[in-house]
Amino acid sequence: MQNISPTKVIIDTDPGVDDALAILLALASPELDVVGITTVCGNVPVGQGTKNLFRLLNLLNPPPGLLVGQGAARPLEEALETAVHVHGSDGLGELDALLTAEGTMRYPSVRLPPLLSTAQDVWNECVRRYQEDITLITLGPLTNVAVALKVNPLTVQKFRSVIVMGGAIGVPGNVSPVAEFNMYVDPHAAHRVFQAVLPLTLVPLDVTTRVGVARDALKTWTAASRDPRVRLVADMTAKAFDFAEQVEGHGLLYFHDPTAVLAAIESSLLKTEPLHVDVEVVGRVSRGATVADRRHRRAEEKANPNMQVAVDIDAERALSILRSRLCPWS
Ligand code: RIB
Ligand code: CA
Repeated sequence: MQNISPTKVIIDTDPGVDDALAILLALASPELDVVGITTVCGNVPVGQGTKNLFRLLNLLNPPPGLLVGQGAARPLEEALETAVHVHGSDGLGELDALLTAEGTMRYPSVRLPPLLSTAQDVWNECVRRYQEDITLITLGPLTNVAVALKVNPLTVQKFRSVIVMGGAIGVPGNVSPVAEFNMYVDPHAAHRVFQAVLPLTLVPLDVTTRVGVARDALKTWTAASRDPRVRLVADMTAKAFDFAEQVEGHGLLYFHDPTAVLAAIESSLLKTEPLHVDVEVVGRVSRGATVADRRHRRAEEKANPNMQVAVDIDAERALSILRSRLCPWS
């Protein structure tokens, strides 16, 4: 793709199955140089998310010098609501339950380092090392970004680009009729981030639900490979398909978070539009709704755009890149 030198990225994540696929994608993509990965509460409590991150890194060969840190344990004001019913009690599709032929854990849990950095420290160190050359990709609730705006504003202002997986502009929500999960879990954080003047690109359900795969189709990606990373893709996603088939009914595993990473790999996949977007924080039925000002008015008669919003995607090309990176040789 188009990059000559790899784009330096920090990934902020609540791993989660699609987060894990996004991390696999990022680490397998020569267009990106992953310099930091930080966790945030969301799909699972942040401690579980950090354990999952170390478990993933233990299976992969992460770049030398990668900085890892743990972030917020709870949203700014709301109580944490997780998505373990989608991602499994461990957040990675119940990997704990999988055994080898010898009866040992196929994916042994890992011990966390004795001294764990904080997400804020990781972001500060990355900016100290790489200055304005960093793209932040957020795959979970925006709590860490909101905290950084308060305690480390100069760091956040240094980010060259902020790509946010979240929101639902012209499509229904997924956690409520109007709200997408990342916005719903911490609407106060999202509101604060959207009000800040950041180079923000929103990757909402409008495009991520165009990048999905059914269980049988994913099997054609993974069946022929003995590569442990491909085996992990198959093992992690089985439970997510259960939810997609039995609760959502469409049976598709949506690559929500990998689509946000694709935005950093190949921006030409997405069509974006400058829009003003805000987040409902007080609504009884509308908490977490992302409200875009798309009224047919002269520009000067409505709110100035505060972000680029992905409104369309080349879904076929996106799926082709995902398959080639997540399940090479398939
Ligand atoms: O709504 C989808 C988003 O919420 C994804 O990031 C998924 O991992 C969950 O965090
Ligand atoms: Ca996520």
